Amino acid sequence: MYLENLSLVNFKNYSDLEVQFSSKINCFTGNNGVGKTNILDAIYYLSFCKSFLTSNDSLTVKHAQDLFVIQGNYQINGSTDLIYCGYELNKRKRFKRNKKEYEKLADHIGLIPLVLISPYDSNLIIGGSEERRRFVDGIISQFDREYLFELQRYNRVLMQRNFLLKQYGSFGYIDEEVLELYDEELSETGQHIFEKRKFFLSEIRSVFQKYFSHITSGTEEVALNYYSPLQEKDLKALLKESREKDKQVRYTTEGVHKDELELILDGYPIRKLGSQGQQKSYLVALKLAQFEYIYKLCGFKPILLLDDVFDKLDSQRVEQIIKLVAHNSFGQIFITDTNPARIGNVLKQIEGEYFHFHVENSQLQRIYEEV
Ligand SMILES: Nc1ncnc2c1ncn2[C@@H]1O[C@H](COP(=O)(O)OP(=O)(O)OP(=O)(O)O)[C@@H](O)[C@H]1O
Ligand SMILES: [Mg+2]
Repeated sequence: MYLENLSLVNFKNYSDLEVQFSSKINCFTGNNGVGKTNILDAIYYLSFCKSFLTSNDSLTVKHAQDLFVIQGNYQINGSTDLIYCGYELNKRKRFKRNKKEYEKLADHIGLIPLVLISPYDSNLIIGGSEERRRFVDGIISQFDREYLFELQRYNRVLMQRNFLLKQYGSFGYIDEEVLELYDEELSETGQHIFEKRKFFLSEIRSVFQKYFSHITSGTEEVALNYYSPLQEKDLKALLKESREKDKQVRYTTEGVHKDELELILDGYPIRKLGSQGQQKSYLVALKLAQFEYIYKLCGFKPILLLDDVFDKLDSQRVEQIIKLVAHNSFGQIFITDTNPARIGNVLKQIEGEYFHFHVENSQLQRIYEEV
């Protein structure tokens, strides 16, 4: 599966753009602010029906215009699918596949799997534990609707339980029967969530290690540890034991909302001790593991977007990453970088096809490297 071409009308800095892509590697290089990331964002839109930079569609309409259109032709299993996304200010966003409009945007998500690695992902490494839970949950729920429903149910009951505990703080009385009902429901859904997270991590752990060792040429040791209160006891027992404490502190202290994904480099948390380049390498390996997981599940190689990934990485790691993703186990790739020479030099060494575009004045111009 790959994106053959993209057409943009009044999308961010692009008034009118038509571009043909390679089914393998596509690179966009140019100075800061010329619109490299915006191209990736348009491609992201066609997979997820939204921008990865803002949740406000009106910000993506070119200044002083009132609508944008993104269109792309995808090759999927030997046939061509035209995906259309149109948005007019103050109106609803419209999404079409082969000219037929979707009733719900959610029906489109999953058709064109995509993995993005961007500077904004650094929160996954340095942010709080909820960032890492969101990462894990986002991947599992994309292909497991039941998991998504259980997660929603868990969060809803957790909120209700916490509300009840807060009320106990104000009124000194709690309806134990209602608390019991909440505990039942939390235990049931929480236990499923725990099992699925555990399974997911066992699936990606060795793949992640393989990629990390490839990028770093095997010089550093990594571990991906999943911690959950449920590892020691089932949630029903935990909730029962912590009930008195919960009443005192007025919130639920045990459950899968306390799970943590610990990211370890050479025995220490990478969040605290890893250098910027090490953190970036870690992130890339994690996202490539995500790629492989999705590929295994849906049978298509997701489109891979690498936004500014090479910043802070040494030339050896850059080379390792490009060679890695150029390999056949990956599909179509889109890369942005400010440094055309850095990427151009590695590209001309690889065997597969690549298109290198120079971005300037809201135009794309193909560059042909001299071999
Ligand atoms: N709605 C919009 N209308 C017009 N221009 C916009 C709009 N939204 C963003 N831009 C412009 O897009 C540019 C930023 O584009 P983008 O983030 O793609 O740059 P970049 O090439 O990736 O830069 P960097 O190398 O710094 O990452 C800015 O100059 C900004 O003014
Ligand atoms: Mg950018």
